[in-house]
Amino acid sequence: MTTDAILNRSYSLEKEQIPPTVVEQIDDAERAALTEKIKAQLKQQNAVIVAHYYTEPELQILADESGGYVSDSLDMARFGKESDAETLIVCGVKFMGETAKILSPEKRILMPDLDANCSLDLGCPTDEFSDFCDTHPDHVVVVYANTSAAVKARADWMVTSGSAVDVIKHLAAEGKKIIWAPDKYLGDYVQKETGADMLIWQGACIVHEEFKGQELETLRAHHPDAKVLVHPESPASVIEQADMVGSTTGIIKAVVEMDATKFIIATDTGIFHKIKEAAPDKILIEAPTAGKSATCISCAHCPWMAMNSLRKLLRVLETGDNKVLVDADIAQRATGSIQRLLDFTRDQASKLAGDA
Ligand code: 13P
Ligand code: SF4
Repeated sequence: MTTDAILNRSYSLEKEQIPPTVVEQIDDAERAALTEKIKAQLKQQNAVIVAHYYTEPELQILADESGGYVSDSLDMARFGKESDAETLIVCGVKFMGETAKILSPEKRILMPDLDANCSLDLGCPTDEFSDFCDTHPDHVVVVYANTSAAVKARADWMVTSGSAVDVIKHLAAEGKKIIWAPDKYLGDYVQKETGADMLIWQGACIVHEEFKGQELETLRAHHPDAKVLVHPESPASVIEQADMVGSTTGIIKAVVEMDATKFIIATDTGIFHKIKEAAPDKILIEAPTAGKSATCISCAHCPWMAMNSLRKLLRVLETGDNKVLVDADIAQRATGSIQRLLDFTRDQASKLAGDA
């Protein structure tokens, strides 16, 4: 395919490719029994849960109570690498499990459901992407964390939502031309912020893509005192109205630190659990996903994140099923792009500490 054909083609998923968001329903007694059994298994197997903010609150609570970790995709990877546990149970989506395995090849990585994928990962087929990169050998290849291990293996850099602007700014300052994949909205936002020369793959997150600019304007008119916090996987019409654009961790921090009591939040509703924990007195409002002429499909909760559940978690601990495996050659090549980001963010943090 030519460059124009790739850049003008949508890599968004079709409706039929998107599973419904189904959250496991359990009563209090079963929840308590499952939690107890899981805690015992974790101890026995020297295992910890590493969960994303978008997973169900009961999984986040269990991770926190049992010495595990709840965070954004970058921090989940860091925690998993540094943990002494022999087994990591990654409650999140496929790319998070793969990244954990790549960074900790000696550890056993299990996931409650191996079908938990991501529309961005699915919208960036390795062969097509690799051919596209081959036709632009003078470009640095930067991919978002939400990609397969094989796509990361073809990249020079992996970035996350919390690090993308800084990394691209750094590359642009060195005069580099960039291939960006797969999220078109995040790519456009980063391009606008940095002015970098970027070829942008046309993938999208099915959850964030549903936030509606016009309806957000109407909602803001009803709540003129609310601050608007937006994840950068959202469309430009939504990002344009933001008081703050950032990663999941960045959004939680903003609610805690900003001098306001009301917030409109444009990201997966799974994040509300941690925000309420960190800032119980603040008022949180979901950004609108359905317009006058549209109904939402994911309705601001990722169908793949919702595949993680207590019942499935106990099952994998009891059976050892759902091991995440990554081909050794792919893992070795992908390590380079992931490690480059970890080194970059570490250097940035120590620079900041030095400046303080
Ligand atoms: P964060 O890196 O901000 O946690 O985002 C991951 C993700 O999948 C957002 O949809
Ligand atoms: Fe992927 Fe979007 Fe789900 Fe995040 S919320 S895992 S980007 S589909």
